[in-house]
Amino acid sequence: MSDCIIEIRNLWTQFGAQVVHRDLNLCVHRGEVLSLVGGSGSGKSTLLREMLGLEHPTQGEVRVFGISLRDGDRAELRRIRNRWGMLFQEGALFSALSVYENIALPLRELKTLDEELIHDLVMLKLDMVGIERGHASKMPSSLSGGMVKRIGLARALSLEPELLFLDEPTAGLDPDRSESFCTLIANLKRELGLTVVMVTHDLDTIVSISDRVAVLADQKIAALGSVAEVAAVPHPFIENFFQGDRGKRALEGLKLPRPASSAPLRQEN
Ligand SMILES: Nc1ncnc2c1ncn2[C@@H]1O[C@H](COP(=O)(O)OP(=O)(O)OP(=O)(O)O)[C@@H](O)[C@H]1O
Ligand SMILES: [Mg+2]
Repeated sequence: MSDCIIEIRNLWTQFGAQVVHRDLNLCVHRGEVLSLVGGSGSGKSTLLREMLGLEHPTQGEVRVFGISLRDGDRAELRRIRNRWGMLFQEGALFSALSVYENIALPLRELKTLDEELIHDLVMLKLDMVGIERGHASKMPSSLSGGMVKRIGLARALSLEPELLFLDEPTAGLDPDRSESFCTLIANLKRELGLTVVMVTHDLDTIVSISDRVAVLADQKIAALGSVAEVAAVPHPFIENFFQGDRGKRALEGLKLPRPASSAPLRQEN
């Protein structure tokens, strides 16, 4: 049995004549934080949607928890959907619902929990993400960006998933809020044993919480490894991304290996 919680094999994505992913392979290990980076239009969001089964690749296979998202039976797919949580970049919360109702929504959909238990679970999730319980009755429009992210995270965690998907979790947050959100993710990962797949452009976020980084470029995973390993791979996107002033600052303190002449970090097969 493979230790990949997500396994992508020979994946192709085409929109008309445009090939977005060409024979892409990737294994996400249980318990790691994997950051997915790449230029605009490189196919990060599409790949994330394919990992969630919201879209299917043109060819190839995505298996999550060992189940094929294309061929698994419906009951099985419903069960695995309850084993992951997703924090979307935009519209993290339903604006017409209170904080309480936003977090309760996935719990209500189970149709097996009584109101008292739902209440207790919602309160626990608020504690978990560091939001005071008194905010439960507030509407999303009255909250700061940082609070919206935390409550979105509480909702993503409401079914106690093993796997968490994050799309640009720190975009739009100021540096302090961004740092404290990263600390929260790192703590939750440790306490809950979460596996996290995160799309982000933010180097500080990448450096602070990734176990591995996957670079999406040239229609495939062009480099994969620790931040320091990936930053040393000779590739125009990587050089530009990691070796600019911001990249250098974020990488300070990480011990960088010399650029390798062989390419041990190339796409997994
Ligand atoms: N449903 C679709 N129909 C046609 N083209 C699409 C569709 N979805 C995505 N694309 C194209 O596929 C490419 C990859 O898009 P995607 O949104 O995955 O990129 P991205 O890496 O997430 O970019 P960004 O960093 O800007 O969010 C883009 O060229 C996009 O226009
Ligand atoms: Mg995107």
